[in-house]
Amino acid sequence: MPELFDSLTLRGLTLRNRIAVSPMCQYSATDGLANDWHRTHLSSLARGGAGLVTIEATGVTPEGRITPGCLGLWNDAQAEALAPIVAEIGKSGAASGIQLAHAGRKASANAPWEGDNHIPGNDPRGWQTIAPSAIAFGGDLPKIPREMTLDDIARVQQGFVDAALRANEIGLDSLMLHFAHGYLGQSFLSPHSNTRTDAYGGSAANRARFLIETLAAVRKVWPEQKPILARIGVIEFDGQDEETLGDAIDTIRSLKAEGLDLVDVSMGFSTPDADIPWGPAFLAPIAGRVRQETGLPTSTSWYISKPEQANQLIEDELVDLISLGRPMLTNPHWPYDAAQKLGVENPAWATLPTPYAHWLQRYRAA
Ligand SMILES: Cc1cc2nc3c(=O)[nH]c(=O)nc-3n(C[C@H](O)[C@H](O)[C@H](O)COP(=O)(O)O)c2cc1C
Repeated sequence: MPELFDSLTLRGLTLRNRIAVSPMCQYSATDGLANDWHRTHLSSLARGGAGLVTIEATGVTPEGRITPGCLGLWNDAQAEALAPIVAEIGKSGAASGIQLAHAGRKASANAPWEGDNHIPGNDPRGWQTIAPSAIAFGGDLPKIPREMTLDDIARVQQGFVDAALRANEIGLDSLMLHFAHGYLGQSFLSPHSNTRTDAYGGSAANRARFLIETLAAVRKVWPEQKPILARIGVIEFDGQDEETLGDAIDTIRSLKAEGLDLVDVSMGFSTPDADIPWGPAFLAPIAGRVRQETGLPTSTSWYISKPEQANQLIEDELVDLISLGRPMLTNPHWPYDAAQKLGVENPAWATLPTPYAHWLQRYRAA
């Protein structure tokens, strides 16, 4: 029976345990460039003992950022700024990952603490958004996107490929493609946002085409021994859940055939009217179903905060990896804390860097 502190191997990458730091936007970059804040934030999370640390949603094109403060990887200067951070994550003993993203119709927004809404049309900080169809998300995100042409689709897919090449050059161990949360990949998948009548719209297979082509193109340039993960919104909580989930499972099977290594099970967020049944680990049973029906390793996040609960989800084989967001912000040493609570032998040495582990292990023994 696998446990939280067992290692996990995906292709040629072995994670020291089943704990991943979930990608978390910091909305703190200028021109997509990582800075001291990103370094402090990510190195402190990596230091706490996770197996994998995934850098926040990072725009593959300028218009693909959620906000003007989001990271980017569409030029070499952005890669150079990230390189020392990636190295620091590696030195801590965690594997590194980056979430490659395009925000589609949810782009051009203010940071959450500035309103989490679209930047108004007359504000020069904003920009024209693009999406599969000219349909606004609604609510606080009312901008109507421009429907993408086939050239736009090819350009954005090339953006994912070029960003993957840069990610490899700076030593990232894994990629996560952001196909969830109502951003571009998800909005191709969802009939709420995709009413195209060409090869990228209509049937579920057509709506999945953008995702499958993008993954296949990235897989071609990403080293064979390094894994690719994808975060996918498999459910919308919009009353059509069985159909959405069934379509998502078919899509994930196709992605697996193109070389996907792990699916992070999340939500669609394609409509502001979703009725989400928030609760502890509420997506874990769905992740278990995806795991069983696709044969792919899974991870999930959302309200998993207790070590025993995380361990149980791994033992029950619902997920292979636990993705933690807010619990890691609450306690960047969550993995060390969990190792103590779960009775891992020499918990400090199993999780923390030597200058911490030496003292904490000694103190515990005294
Ligand atoms: C500050 C913050 C930023 C986030 N940014 C991203 C992101 O860049 N990409 C993403 O897929 N999810 C993002 N999320 C969602 C988290 O990755 C995670 O899925 C969510 O917080 C649920 O996990 P939790 O209950 O452990 O926090 C963010 C969440 C937080 C709290």
